[in-house]
Amino acid sequence: MENLRIPGPTPLPSEVLQAMTKQMINHRGEEFGQILNGVTDKLKQLFQTKGDVFLLTGSGTGGLEAAIVNTLSPGDKVLSVSIGVFGERFVAIAEQFGTEVIPLRFEWGKAADVDAIRQALQAEPKIKAVLVTHNETSTGVTNDLASISSVVKEFDKLLLVDAISGLGSINLPVDDWHCDVTVTGSQKGWMAPPGLAMVSMSQEAWQANSTARMPRFYWDFARAKSYLEKGQTPWTPAISTVFALSVSLEMMMKEGLSNIIARHARVAKTAREGIKSLGLSLFAEEGYASNTVTAVAASNGLDTKKMLRILREEHQVVLGGGQQKLAGKIFRIGHLGWVTENDIGAVISALRVVLPQAGLRT
Ligand SMILES: Cc1ncc(COP(=O)(O)O)c(C=O)c1O
Repeated sequence: MENLRIPGPTPLPSEVLQAMTKQMINHRGEEFGQILNGVTDKLKQLFQTKGDVFLLTGSGTGGLEAAIVNTLSPGDKVLSVSIGVFGERFVAIAEQFGTEVIPLRFEWGKAADVDAIRQALQAEPKIKAVLVTHNETSTGVTNDLASISSVVKEFDKLLLVDAISGLGSINLPVDDWHCDVTVTGSQKGWMAPPGLAMVSMSQEAWQANSTARMPRFYWDFARAKSYLEKGQTPWTPAISTVFALSVSLEMMMKEGLSNIIARHARVAKTAREGIKSLGLSLFAEEGYASNTVTAVAASNGLDTKKMLRILREEHQVVLGGGQQKLAGKIFRIGHLGWVTENDIGAVISALRVVLPQAGLRT
């Protein structure tokens, strides 16, 4: 079996795989309603919210689109805080739907600067919402969302959060941090297959929703809410993926959120220390390195393409490369979901053998 250590999809526990072999059921029937209600209830606990949480059939990007079309109108000014590939994707979606985006970009590998966000909000009082990535998977950086949120709320703006690769693995108390819309995806820390986006909505987000004029049909949260009240989703859901998520959430509840967060912190520390022991350095700014993905700078002659190939072919270890302008410049180790220190220890051991074969000079 491959040691799949990309930042999602992740390997799945056998109980979760088993759940996907179950026969189909009526998605408008009582049994599905009970499963959906159970899943929603557990998600609320893990999101740490009393607000609404919706299960959407689609990938994380669909969830980001849903966040925008459910709260904004064409012509609205939004501040987008971008620190990498996924911050740019949020910008692209907001632009595509006709908002006026004020981009606030930071060097890739660095976290967003809270003072710069404050200045941008001071400079343009008409900004309606702030878009931010909690955990930037492309650079292995986790933003200081608590501080960002307190500035955003100082100015009383809506906060839309891409928490796709952090929520459920890194602490993100949605209500305490006043996140208005928070988006995650089943294939990340949730130990479930791809196919579902999970999204929370605050009261403020619902207020914005009541006047938001963006076109929306499939992603319409008002419709999702009215269907959820009868234990359904508006459209045919990815039933097998819901079965899987239902089991993985059960496992998460058993482990407990604080234990899950602590495990991810320990595993990430194993990854960071292991990387440093190999003579490599982290791409992420000190103090902001992510607990779900470690990005490693490729230096001293290291050919990342060759390294990834040898790891895969000779050690059955699958890591991620750099995306877009980071291609060839970094590689990434995913450590989220069903992962232990031993899994990452195996990755470090394989790297120790492969790095010199892939050109790393010591
Ligand atoms: C931070 C972040 N945002 C957005 C996405 C896009 O999610 P999806 O590929 O599920 O559409 C990802 C996926 O890697 C991500 O890590």
